[in-house]
Amino acid sequence: MMDESLVNGLMERAKAGDQTVLRSAELKSLFEELKTKPTEERAAFGKAVNELKQELEEILLNHHPKTTTQKPIDITAPFDVNAKKPGLLPADQGSVHPLMKELEQVLQIYARMGFASAESRQLDDDWHMFESLNFPPDHPARDNTDTFEVEDGLLAPAHTSTMQNRIMSANKHLLDIGQPIAYVIPGRVFRNEDVDARHEHTFYQLEGIYVDKGINAGHLISVLQTFFEAYFGKKMEVRTQPFYFPFTEPSFEFAIACPFCDKAGCHVCGEGWLELLGCGMIHPNVLKMAGIDAEKYTGFAWGGGIERMVMVKNNIEDVRHFHSANLKFLRQFR
Ligand code: DAH
Repeated sequence: MMDESLVNGLMERAKAGDQTVLRSAELKSLFEELKTKPTEERAAFGKAVNELKQELEEILLNHHPKTTTQKPIDITAPFDVNAKKPGLLPADQGSVHPLMKELEQVLQIYARMGFASAESRQLDDDWHMFESLNFPPDHPARDNTDTFEVEDGLLAPAHTSTMQNRIMSANKHLLDIGQPIAYVIPGRVFRNEDVDARHEHTFYQLEGIYVDKGINAGHLISVLQTFFEAYFGKKMEVRTQPFYFPFTEPSFEFAIACPFCDKAGCHVCGEGWLELLGCGMIHPNVLKMAGIDAEKYTGFAWGGGIERMVMVKNNIEDVRHFHSANLKFLRQFR
């Protein structure tokens, strides 16, 4: 009669709910075989094949797929849920990252000096990155080899100055009631850098803005000097040198006398001075683009990397430690 293992195979598939079994080559082969049977066997074989087909149809008709309750998948899990769970560090053994810890102190010092704070964005547009900051259309920094660009044209900001226009536009009403605009803006910035002990492609900057009537570069220098004296906890000699930024006029580079060697020159500073930030008097065009009357008000702004300051204060020799997630490094700052 019919090949037993072939029949069993078909039955198994039907029981598992496999609808294709009715069109399967195996079932067809039985009908083919029927044609080759001698006449006296044909009726019985045909009956058996038809009965098998009906039985398969019946099994399939009564087959209800089992509904099983699967364990929910936690799509936020920081590991493959199908693999063995990695040994995670208990939360009570974690600690605040040294950069964030220092940033907290920096913001507290500025808060005591009357500065509010806001965070910058990690994706921004061309207008805030360049145009609102008075960058000429052909400025080389617009070249996307210096600035990372995402597919739909947004930019990973290369500085926190992207926030200048937003902060000034949103707070210009303060000027009308006789109050200054005083803000510090920390944020993550991104640059196409060759990474080494002093350069990272991703780092933090702190931007500062102060606008009011009668503000001049003397105010700028004294605010920065006051900050650095509070941060390093000692009297500090400071220096400015002329520089160029499109969004400030005049523009300066600001340096502090090395707190370790008092300008003698050492492994931290090299020649006695530490260049820590760029600054200047806010360009009238930048004030105007934020809707501020540049005839009536003046202001200063500054911006600089946070890592460098923290490295100098804590004697950290390589900027790459910050992103290393190395517990030996991180635990020194608990
Ligand atoms: N955005 C500048 C940079 O990343 C730093 C800077 C310079 C910020 C002068 C300012 C400024 O606000 O006034 O190099």
